Amino acid sequence: MNRRLVGLIGAGWLLFSIWVYTAPLENNRPDHLSAAAVRGKLVWERSGCISCHQLYGLGGFLGPDLTQLMDRTGPNYLKTMVQLGSQLMPKQDLEESEIEDLSHYLTAVSSSGRWPGKRWPPPRFSAK
Ligand code: HEC
Repeated sequence: MNRRLVGLIGAGWLLFSIWVYTAPLENNRPDHLSAAAVRGKLVWERSGCISCHQLYGLGGFLGPDLTQLMDRTGPNYLKTMVQLGSQLMPKQDLEESEIEDLSHYLTAVSSSGRWPGKRWPPPRFSAK
């Protein structure tokens, strides 16, 4: 094969690799979450909500996907659900402040994108 062409492809690959490894990951930077939201994320993880609920379609499937929860409802609804539970969801033993942090986290999740997205084919699993 033409050596100049191989050199060109090699240089292109090298530049592309450098770009991939050094491009800033805007959306993955933890400082995009407020301190309250970070605390809320820890509450979310500690409490095991993910064993029954999904964020962006990932998690357990006993309860609904909560990605857009805070768009659809609000902090009061979250608080009621967590404190009282329902016939299907066991109530969760959390402090007021923890639930408040949780609502900051879920608000950040809600505003980070949409799930399910409008794409084709549609995802196999979706909320309700
Ligand atoms: C044992 C499984 C389980 C766990 C653990 C669990 N949930 Fe649930 N959750 C459910 C189920 C099932 C429902 C649906 C309840 C219903 O329709 O009555 C639900 C419903 C909800 C709803 C209402 C959703 C909506 O769209 O109306 C919220 C909010 C919620 N859960 C928050 C949480 C949070 C926050 C945690 C963690 C602190 C949590 N859940 C942990 C099973 C669970």
